[in-house]
Formats: sequence, C-alpha cells, structure tokens
Amino acid sequence: MNICVIGCGYVGITCAVCFSRLGYRVVGLDNDPGKVKLLQQKKPPIYEQYLEEFLVQDGGNLSFTYDPSVLAEAEVVFITVPTPVSIEGNWDLSYLESAAHSISEHISGHTLIVNKCTAPVGTTEKVGQWITEAGVSPSEFEVLSNPEFLRQSTAILDFLHPYRIIIGGHSQEQRERLRHIFSPIINQDFPSPIPECSWQISTPVPTLLTTPRTAEMIKYASNAFLATKISYINEVGNICREYGVDVNEVARGMGLDSRISPSFLEAGVGFGGSCLPKDTRALIGMGKTVGYQPKLLEAVLEVNREQPLKMVKLAESRVGDLAHKKVAVLGAAFKAGTDDTRESVAFTVVDELLTKKALPVIYDPMALEKVRQRFGDTIIYAGSAREAIIQCDCVLITTAWEEFRDTTLYDGKVVIDGRSTLSGIDSIEYERIC
Ligand SMILES: NC(=O)c1ccc[n+]([C@@H]2O[C@H](COP(=O)([O-])OP(=O)(O)OC[C@H]3O[C@@H](n4cnc5c(N)ncnc54)[C@H](O)[C@@H]3O)[C@@H](O)[C@H]2O)c1
Repeated sequence: MNICVIGCGYVGITCAVCFSRLGYRVVGLDNDPGKVKLLQQKKPPIYEQYLEEFLVQDGGNLSFTYDPSVLAEAEVVFITVPTPVSIEGNWDLSYLESAAHSISEHISGHTLIVNKCTAPVGTTEKVGQWITEAGVSPSEFEVLSNPEFLRQSTAILDFLHPYRIIIGGHSQEQRERLRHIFSPIINQDFPSPIPECSWQISTPVPTLLTTPRTAEMIKYASNAFLATKISYINEVGNICREYGVDVNEVARGMGLDSRISPSFLEAGVGFGGSCLPKDTRALIGMGKTVGYQPKLLEAVLEVNREQPLKMVKLAESRVGDLAHKKVAVLGAAFKAGTDDTRESVAFTVVDELLTKKALPVIYDPMALEKVRQRFGDTIIYAGSAREAIIQCDCVLITTAWEEFRDTTLYDGKVVIDGRSTLSGIDSIEYERIC
C-alpha cells in the first residue's frame, strides 16, 4: 500500500518511519526544502529517540520529497501539518487548507485522506469540503479523523505501542478501512524494532470507531484533562509548600488510587510544549464560540502562567535583587528527551529574568540552537551544565534532563528546582518550587 504523509514535523516523521517499518511504502511530503534535504540524507531535523536509526534502516520503502505530485501515487494520505492557536484561542487552519489544496490538485484514483492534526470539531468535514470545492468529486475520496496521542521524547514507542487508537469516519465501511491499515499495530503483530521496549499496553490495542467530530473532541478533551491534572497538582503543591508538606509524597499517595493514577501529578514549574497549552486554549475558544465560558480551563492556564514566575520570585528571596547577577537556567526544551522549545516554560523564566535585569546563563543538551534563535545575544550560553553553574550563585532547573541529577554539580549553590530533579543533597541551599 502507498502512503503519503503531508508534513514532516514531530508527528509526520514519526508516522512515516513507523508505517514504513510495518512494510508500507511511504513518502513524506513537506514544503520546507531544507527539512526534506536533511531527511533525504537520512539526517533527522528534530531530536527524537530512535529516529535516526529508523531513518537509516528504512528497508528501502521510505522516501521524502517537497514535490506534491507524489500524491498521485498515494492510496492513503495522512495530514500532519501545524494547527496553531493564538493566545486569544483563535485557531489557524491555513496549513491544513493548503494541504487540502495540494491533495485536490494531485490525487488520482480513490484516496483515503486521514486528518491526524489536532483541530476543532468540524475540521475534518471542512477538509472534505475544501477538496470538493476545488473540483474533486466526493466519490473520489473520503476524509477521516485519526487524532494522534504520541508524546514527544517517546514518539516512536508511543506510535507503535499506543494506549488506544481513535478512528472517526462517517460510515462503518470507512472506519474499517482505516482500522485495517492500523491492524499490525492494533494486534501488535510485527517484530518489535525496539527489543528493549517494555511498554505495558493491552493487546489488541483498544480501538474506538466513532464519528469525525467525536474523534476531534476526544483529542482536545484528553489534552485539556492532562493540563488540568498538572495545574491541579501545582495548585495543591503551592498550598503544601506553605504548610511544610511534601507535595511529591502527597501525589504518590493520590496516585495509588487507580481512579486518579500517578501520571501527570508531578508538581513543578508547569506545562509547555506544542500541545497542552495550545489545545487547552483551543477548547476554551471552542466553548466561547458557542457562548459557553469554560471557567475551569481558564483557571488551568492561569495557574500555569504563574508557576514559572514563582521560580524567579524564589530566587530573589534567596539571593536578593537579581539585577546584573548571573543566574543559571538548566534546560530549555519543554521536557527532557526532545529539542522542542515551543511554549517552553524555560523561556518564560528567561523572559522574567531579563525583566529583572538579571543575566541568564542557559544550558540545554539538545535545544540550544532554538534558544539562540529566540534570544540571540541577550543571554549567555554554556556548553555544559557545569559551565553554566560555575559562573552563577543561583541555579534554576527548568527541564528534567537526566544529567541535571548529578548532585556533585551544585556544591555551594542556591538551587531552585522546577522539576523535582534532585533529592538527598544538603551541601547546597535547595528549594523546590512547590
Ligand atoms: N508534536 C506533538 O507531540 C503532537 C502530538 C499529537 C498531535 N499533534 C498535532 O499534529 C499536528 C502536527 O504537529 P507537529 O508537532 O508535528 O508540527 P510541526 O510543526 O513539527 O511539523 C509540521 C510540518 O508540516 C510542514 N508543513 C506545513 N504546511 C505544509 C503543507 N501545506 N504541505 C507540506 N508540509 C507542510 C512544516 O514544514 C512542518 O515540517 C498538529 O496539529 C499538532 O497539534 C502534535
């Protein structure tokens, strides 16, 4: 079967390399020639575990191009382009519209079009409408929604061994067609390319066949719920702090209840990335569009806005006025295991430090190039955690990279830990954010 994946970002590349591993012939299509060139040389344009090996060992059935005419060969097209949402909660579907335009110009023969983008309820129908309006007969294609739930840093593992698959189509026949494409994953019926994988998932993978609108809402409701869990535990943590109670211990106790579960209960500096903030804003926007004020979700974002600022306040309370003082910021990626800095809380911390006229000294093992693009020469860059720390009296830990757990790095320093990275050290002045 010939598959084309439009958009070779974090989701698209993962989808392309995994489907090619399952034996499908896959072409990744992206309109960024620089990215395509790297991929053609089997060099990953992003950092993600296993990606480089998967690109190198592609079995000869994976290719990349920026020429949309390849769509003519595709029996199935996955769309994985950006769907940004403004701070005010307004979504931008122009990338999807342009992908739909390419599809309408080039598809030939009956084509299954699968929208993997996180987009407001009704978008999958809209994709179909754009293609029809461009002159393609509805009998030539069908559009389904298949929201993606992979997590950056474990994207390939998540794609091949998911907790669930959601398929939104207008008819049972359409849904079954897409289910068939996922059947090796649903039945876990392939030699694991990652032998050390110890993922605990049920087989067959739970698969929900539903309407496109329900599938779209499941994705938003899931991400906004995870964001809510984080802001909830951060709020509890802020209260715990004042009572001298360890919020991590509280979270452990809560997580023992299977109705609550321990995941996403790590109190700290808050959530960032390209999904949780954006998707929560979009759900708020969707509520407002129909005249509903989503008070709980607005509070989730409000708590999250304040957490990074608390870190800087704590630093001030320990070392006094920060003006002209160097402050080490460890971590720029929104989480460990990725080079992605989209909506990273580390950036909010750096912005706040600059407002206080401090001199941030930043280190990240994977994301420094992206920090440079954002901050230029307004901040100082370090080549290692040690190099950053040595210059500063105060250290802020904003991403939980494994190398930051080395307690010998911090002798004699004030450390404000936004990710519960350290424990059991008394040679330093150490505080967790909550
Ligand atoms: N990143 C995640 O962890 C994640 C997880 C689940 C769902 N999603 C959703 O998946 C979608 C893609 O997210 P992402 O993080 O992979 O985005 P991304 O920004 O990393 O990648 C998008 C890619 O699409 C390309 N592109 C844009 N318009 C195009 C067009 N018309 N034709 C061809 N290529 C085009 C861009 O050049 C880019 O390489 C979004 O809707 C996002 O919300 C993301």
